[in-house]
Amino acid sequence: MQEIGVGIIGTGFMGKTHALAYRAVAGVFPESLRPKLVAVADIDEDAAKRAAAQFGFARASSDWKSLVTDPAVEVVSITTPNRVHKEQALAAIAAGKHVHCEKPIAPRAADAKIMMEAAEAAGVVTQVGFNYIKNPILGLARSMIVAGELGDIVSFRGIHAEDYMADADVPYNWRVDPSGGGGAIADIGSHIIGMSRFLLGPIVEVIADLRTVVGSRPVSPGAAERRKVEVDDIGRAIVRFERGCSGSIEANWVALGRKMQLGFEVTGTKGTLVFSQERLNELHFYRAGANPREAGFVRIEAGPQHAPYGNFIVAPGHQLGFNELKTIEVADFLRAIAGGEQKGPDFREAWEIQKIIDTAIQSSKERRWLAVS
Ligand SMILES: NC(=O)c1ccc[n+]([C@@H]2O[C@H](COP(=O)([O-])OP(=O)(O)OC[C@H]3O[C@@H](n4cnc5c(N)ncnc54)[C@H](O)[C@@H]3O)[C@@H](O)[C@H]2O)c1
Repeated sequence: MQEIGVGIIGTGFMGKTHALAYRAVAGVFPESLRPKLVAVADIDEDAAKRAAAQFGFARASSDWKSLVTDPAVEVVSITTPNRVHKEQALAAIAAGKHVHCEKPIAPRAADAKIMMEAAEAAGVVTQVGFNYIKNPILGLARSMIVAGELGDIVSFRGIHAEDYMADADVPYNWRVDPSGGGGAIADIGSHIIGMSRFLLGPIVEVIADLRTVVGSRPVSPGAAERRKVEVDDIGRAIVRFERGCSGSIEANWVALGRKMQLGFEVTGTKGTLVFSQERLNELHFYRAGANPREAGFVRIEAGPQHAPYGNFIVAPGHQLGFNELKTIEVADFLRAIAGGEQKGPDFREAWEIQKIIDTAIQSSKERRWLAVS
């Protein structure tokens, strides 16, 4: 099994998830390149050292620039706040490295475009962390839509709601810093926008309403001094897909009680599919035309018949989790680097998603429909 050197920048929530996935992937996918954890960098050097000890990286530092030019690093994984992705990704691309970057890849579509063009010009493979669409049960949903099992699609209702910013005393942090881009619409809206594109294809028009609910936040944990918040807490958009149907999309990080309501209802002339990440191993299917006595939603449970579920577990119903989705994403990325199919989502797809986010922000400012250009 051929080895490939990996360097991870950032050791927070996603840094850990990436490290776990790179460690697991060759055990789950026997044909995969085998990642070698070469280097980890974090602005907080102690955090980098802790991650190195925990996961077995050979080197740890506070200097991400030396990580991206390290000759033993062939893949750079970027799990830092959004506003620094561009500088780090462009440096990695310039050093000829394949880049795995968290979403959203940049604050604005114009930045994402520069990153995408640089990667394509350099011929490196890119991967973006829209991990939720790697769920095998979503692969089933997409294949049912493509095969026409739902008939003509007439409606999409999508949502990504959580409550991690609902408390007005959650301190000001990089997620609400406008230099990193939009608020909820970018942070979690990017996931449901990406998912809608994965299922139904391009979105061509948007009208949106973005609201800030928590107007100020403590400058640091427990501080009396507060800083004004300028990004959205709730973003709602009505969208039109290129294929003709309309949809609604909500991004909401102040939805008290909701921990991971990333989900959708897709309705066609022959049926409806319903999914929620809160029960990520289930897809609900309503087929039109059944005898009314027994008509209703059928619960389809994930199992080895939904590839690559069987790579993880031989038994149906035993359930995949969030970290497994990241492992599938890493497997797809390494397969593309090895010359196999490029499933993405890559920087080009991330740019397409970013354009929709930018259009929603602009539409809310102008209070009107805008084309996604
Ligand atoms: N795919 C997903 O499901 C998912 C989930 C959460 C977050 N994310 C994305 O992952 C990224 C990171 O989010 P997180 O929740 O892990 O954040 P986090 O705050 O938990 O971790 C960020 C890490 O980056 C480090 N860091 C900050 N600036 C740095 C710099 N200039 N150089 C090096 N290290 C730096 C911090 O010290 C920290 O360890 C964001 O883009 C976010 O949108 C994706």
